[in-house]
Amino acid sequence: MNYHEILKRGENFLKKNKIENPYLDVDLILSKVINKKREEILLSASKKLKNIDIIKFNNYLLRRSKKEPMAYILGYKHFWKYKFLINKSVLIPRPDTELLIEETLKYLPINNSKKILDVGTGSGCLVVSLLKDRPKCVATAIDLSKKAINIAKSNAKLHQLENKINFINIDIDKYNSYNYDLIISNPPYINSIDLNRLDDDVKIHEPKLALLGGFDGFKEIKKVIIKSKKLLKINGKLIFEIGYDQKYKIVKILNKNGFFVNKISKDLSGKDRCVISTKIK
Ligand SMILES: C[S@@+](CC[C@H](N)C(=O)[O-])C[C@H]1O[C@@H](n2cnc3c(N)ncnc32)[C@H](O)[C@@H]1O
Repeated sequence: MNYHEILKRGENFLKKNKIENPYLDVDLILSKVINKKREEILLSASKKLKNIDIIKFNNYLLRRSKKEPMAYILGYKHFWKYKFLINKSVLIPRPDTELLIEETLKYLPINNSKKILDVGTGSGCLVVSLLKDRPKCVATAIDLSKKAINIAKSNAKLHQLENKINFINIDIDKYNSYNYDLIISNPPYINSIDLNRLDDDVKIHEPKLALLGGFDGFKEIKKVIIKSKKLLKINGKLIFEIGYDQKYKIVKILNKNGFFVNKISKDLSGKDRCVISTKIK
């Protein structure tokens, strides 16, 4: 079977299984299997595949037909300006979350050396992106999942930041190290009803620990706010992501815990997404 034929066959198979953008997915899968760029595949459409590569291709195709996200199949995802290793233990970094980086960088002058904490680091996409762009800062990144911490460490190494970020496998509730200038977090904030309404790609394949914020969606965000009050310096910033419908309750929780809300930024689809707050008491 040649490249053209396997692409056509793969595309039809994914179409039958109701996968969106089937051509792009099979193209990326073939590119991974034969380790060639997509442009090269186009230029050698009549080239024959080895049997072993056909088997690999079919395996990946089967995974995709069951709605496994492409980032898990490919093993990586681009976020901000960088590439991150990804597996099923971590949430796939979302383009919307790049807003958190954009906003945070405004509060981090390039030559300042700040002490940062990333709560629920997952793949490490937030802390690694920030430290790549602000090399004088140092950071700690924590996560309740040991497997996530391992991936985040690999990503720090991939981006030569292993000496700048201290990774700890711990619950935010139990973490007690003080004097941070900045805390960033993309906590799990989906409530149990909305979780059941998510696409299968997300609901079946991404870790529940990374998505579910308790019955009402606020359980982990509350923990982050209450703990940040203790861990931040006075005038320190807490910058975090929220769900589209959480703004009003979050502002109340922040004010009650001694935070001033500087700004709530909207994502590209106009939804409230990123909260910038300052510890004032
Ligand atoms: C929404 S994911 C965010 C991952 C990554 N920061 C990102 O933006 O793509 C939330 C992360 O928080 C972690 N987590 C959940 N509850 C936690 C807790 N109580 N303490 C520390 N980490 C927690 C999860 O394991 C998961 O990796």
